[in-house]
Amino acid sequence: MSIKNIMVVGAGLMGSGISQIAAGAGYQVIINDVKDELVEKGLTAISQNLDRQVKKEKIAAADKDAILAKITKSASLDDARKADFVIEAAFEDFAVKKSIFEKLDGICPAGVIFASNTSSIPISSLATTVKRPDKFIGMHFFSPVPVMKLVEVIPGLKTSPETVRLTEELAASLKKETVRVKDVPGFLVNRINAAFRAEVFNCLLEGVATLEDIDKAVKLGLNHPMGPFELNDAVGIDIGLNVFRTLYDGYKDTKFRPPLVMEKMVQSGDLGKKTGKGWYDYTSGEKKPRKDLNF
Ligand SMILES: NC(=O)c1ccc[n+]([C@@H]2O[C@H](COP(=O)([O-])OP(=O)(O)OC[C@H]3O[C@@H](n4cnc5c(N)ncnc54)[C@H](O)[C@@H]3O)[C@@H](O)[C@H]2O)c1
Repeated sequence: MSIKNIMVVGAGLMGSGISQIAAGAGYQVIINDVKDELVEKGLTAISQNLDRQVKKEKIAAADKDAILAKITKSASLDDARKADFVIEAAFEDFAVKKSIFEKLDGICPAGVIFASNTSSIPISSLATTVKRPDKFIGMHFFSPVPVMKLVEVIPGLKTSPETVRLTEELAASLKKETVRVKDVPGFLVNRINAAFRAEVFNCLLEGVATLEDIDKAVKLGLNHPMGPFELNDAVGIDIGLNVFRTLYDGYKDTKFRPPLVMEKMVQSGDLGKKTGKGWYDYTSGEKKPRKDLNF
């Protein structure tokens, strides 16, 4: 089966990134969200991202226009009729995803593969929402999608080898590296990273080093591009907390117990960069240490 048209459902952070790289790789992309304004918002994010690449001379201005010309806007799932492959990147909510896949199942020809970018919902349970569980798969991208090289390919219990092969081929054509991962809580990267971050919080609460020095140590000693607190602020403390919850629910292993200090931050409404304050204070436009937190 040859894939030419890709539908991306959800035009948020991940969906816009996935649409951008798919159009950049030469696919015709249909970018879908529930409202025209949200589709526009996704396209504006893509356009701004491409502008930055033009400025850095990574692509020519004409490439930007060519990429944007490959993207069609959609505020109706009916447009999935034209798609050969669907990647879903809507809200991380089973009911939302279920309603999307049930509709898509009635709209798309039987051969079309459905991939979900879910971070935490089991692929095998999402696959129950369609009559084609053999053509259902997890395709877990990382943020920011145009930068991060990895895609976790997650077959569910009933995913066919052909679906896995086509998904891996598609990811390679999007210039991503793949790892094949079992359908377990947190998949691979988030599971490993949560165990690491649990230790980061232990060190913070034991006063082994300051928050700023933990970030510094991880960057300079482990060569991570960002410190764990900087990264947590960029991703959202609430999102990071949900990863712990998924892993703790899934494995019942205390190593994944959601750190109480994260719970406190979320309760206080400081969720990271998106609210202006998280582990650091961004309200001045720059990242500043906070002096007002009592852990
Ligand atoms: N943010 C990350 O770092 C990250 C990384 C990997 C995977 N994910 C997963 O990717 C998915 C999307 O995450 P995000 O960060 O882009 O979220 P987001 O909130 O930025 O975007 C989600 C988009 O989905 C849209 N949407 C909601 N219901 C819809 C529907 N019925 N039909 C079409 N669109 C709908 C929303 O309007 C929104 O624009 C989630 O499943 C998340 O777990 C996120």
